[in-house]
Amino acid sequence: MAQIEAAQADTVIAPSLLAADFARLAEAAESVAGAVDWLHVDVMDNHFVPNLTLGPPVVKSLKAATDVPLDCHLMIEDPERWALGYAELGAHNVTFHAEASADPATLAKRLRSAGAKAGLAIDRDTPVEDYLDLLPEFDTLLIMTIKAGFGGQAFMPELLDKVRTARRHAKAGHLELRIEVDGGIAEDTIARAAEAGADAFVAGTAVYGADDPAEACRRLRSLADAAR
Ligand code: DX5
Ligand code: ZN
Repeated sequence: MAQIEAAQADTVIAPSLLAADFARLAEAAESVAGAVDWLHVDVMDNHFVPNLTLGPPVVKSLKAATDVPLDCHLMIEDPERWALGYAELGAHNVTFHAEASADPATLAKRLRSAGAKAGLAIDRDTPVEDYLDLLPEFDTLLIMTIKAGFGGQAFMPELLDKVRTARRHAKAGHLELRIEVDGGIAEDTIARAAEAGADAFVAGTAVYGADDPAEACRRLRSLADAAR
């Protein structure tokens, strides 16, 4: 069990490739390398969410194309069947949705055994309270700040109550837990998420919609650091 009550974990900035040009993902990774901690890879299966994006072959290519750790966010049904494959491809962090998993704790153990960090994602309409007892099994808790499925949606500040609840719970239990926020994170919203207790920040539109994606990441980081 980690002894990090005093030391605050460093801010993680994770640009979402969903907002990048899918024909130029390697360049999108390259354009932010050095300014970011993780690359956020949104896997959508057209079942768990209506949208369809990419899967293991693209993650495999990305892994070969960049040294930036891959943060795979699986918005898919049946993660018990598919999640381990992402760990085996070398994903740094594999996050699956609580709503899609029959047994999140067991899947988290399997991911960790395969050498990945285990992440649990909570969608807009799911209460975090139901999952607090499982948090010791996880390295990352991803709180959606939109409804999962599409980039470019408006940030929902009311969902930060879940971040506050989870951060209180993690502190009380001395858990070393990353709390990641995903959806509508931008220069005008990141400070509120950081104040609520998030320490990892996904940003798609705010990074790849900017003229200089690396500079956008640096600005997001300084805003988050100042708020934490
Ligand atoms: C949406 C994805 C997000 C998305 C965020 O379901 O999980 O990662 O890319 O995009 P922005 O930052 O544009 O809200
Ligand atoms: Zn995501």
